[in-house]
Amino acid sequence: MARILRDYPGVSLKIEDLNGKIDFARIFGRSGPVHIEIGTGKGTFLLNQAQAEPGDNYLGIEWARRYYRHAVDRIGRWGLSNVRIIRTDAAAFIADFVPDDLVDCFHIYFPDPWPKKRHHKRRFLCPTNLEHLIRCLKVRGQLRIATDHAEYFEQIKTVVTERSDTLEQIDFPPTAGAETGEWVGTNFERKYLKDQRPIYTLAARKK
Ligand SMILES: C[S@@+](CC[C@H](N)C(=O)[O-])C[C@H]1O[C@@H](n2cnc3c(N)ncnc32)[C@H](O)[C@@H]1O
Repeated sequence: MARILRDYPGVSLKIEDLNGKIDFARIFGRSGPVHIEIGTGKGTFLLNQAQAEPGDNYLGIEWARRYYRHAVDRIGRWGLSNVRIIRTDAAAFIADFVPDDLVDCFHIYFPDPWPKKRHHKRRFLCPTNLEHLIRCLKVRGQLRIATDHAEYFEQIKTVVTERSDTLEQIDFPPTAGAETGEWVGTNFERKYLKDQRPIYTLAARKK
């Protein structure tokens, strides 16, 4: 029988609570490095990384209600106080609510590849969204991306390389939850590794 998922109001953040641009110190109740994960799925990266780095603050953005509810339930049960999750569209949220020059790292693991050509315009990693990510990053802040989709990865490399005036590519550091042979240890990475698909990663730092 499916377990009943609980809401944890201290974990789930609502747009109406923000009063305009997000004040990270207010929502986490303290200052500290800010990480944002776009497309958390069930929250595995957030759980492992936030537990490993208790001095850092983690905000997850997930638009699918089913995944969002799983992630909130898991974070709440683990009792992590340095994680918040918001259920919304990441592109609009970052454009409208995330201030300039404050984010230490954006994590984007297995973004939906929208493989049909007519759907490519829905891909999150496009020049417009990348501009917002750059705007929000601190100097030396990072962008970390993993995907199994070779053609989307080529597009990602192209849009990032086009901004090499501002972004320098660096080695991708495996996450806290990554086991041997993994980069990020998320549910989708594990599923794709079982299918023996190659995984592509990219990391870049704001100059
Ligand atoms: C393929 S899953 C990867 C989930 C997780 N990162 C992992 O590696 O297991 C992509 C996730 O991104 C979410 N997502 C896609 N586009 C989004 C958007 N614009 N805003 C917020 N979440 C989004 C989807 O609902 C889905 O949960």
